[in-house]
Amino acid sequence: MLLPIYTYGQPVLRKQAEDITSDYPGLGQLIDDMFETLGKADGVGLAAPQIGKSIRLVVIDLDVIKDDNPEFAGFRHAYINPHIIETDGEMVSMDEGCLSIPGIHESVKRNNRVHVTYLDENFQPHDEWVEGFLARVMQHEFDHLDGVMYVDHLSGLRKQMIKSKLKAIITGKVKCTYRIKPVKR
Ligand code: NI
Repeated sequence: MLLPIYTYGQPVLRKQAEDITSDYPGLGQLIDDMFETLGKADGVGLAAPQIGKSIRLVVIDLDVIKDDNPEFAGFRHAYINPHIIETDGEMVSMDEGCLSIPGIHESVKRNNRVHVTYLDENFQPHDEWVEGFLARVMQHEFDHLDGVMYVDHLSGLRKQMIKSKLKAIITGKVKCTYRIKPVKR
């Protein structure tokens, strides 16, 4: 089932999300729905707060970029209770977008390596260092679980530049190819 994506201004996007347990009701279906919603919206990652649930759950699909990045063929994973332990490596700038902030792309500087812990779909624990593009996507998505959005990382000047666009998103005056749930209509 396709889920509407909560957009910038929705309070749930600013909340600290809670860890879940394996008996969370309808978890398997929710993960399937998040993958379907992500695919329809042409994104690479989706965090549960973006569909209105304040829980620590993220889906990442890098299979969609396999034409340019064959190493990501078949890469579709759900991350349960993920936490960033530390980041290091060089700072790299790259354009980012967010399904909750349609129509805006901005360059964001992030560490190239990240140490993460999480449970997979079978609730098996993982503790690993990740680098490169996946490290970026993880930092973007896992930030959502702490109420942080990528625009928070921008300079004051860049924030000023996109202020009116963000305001338009808050009031729902934005065109989008997927279903959104703005804070006002
Ligand atoms: Ni995002």
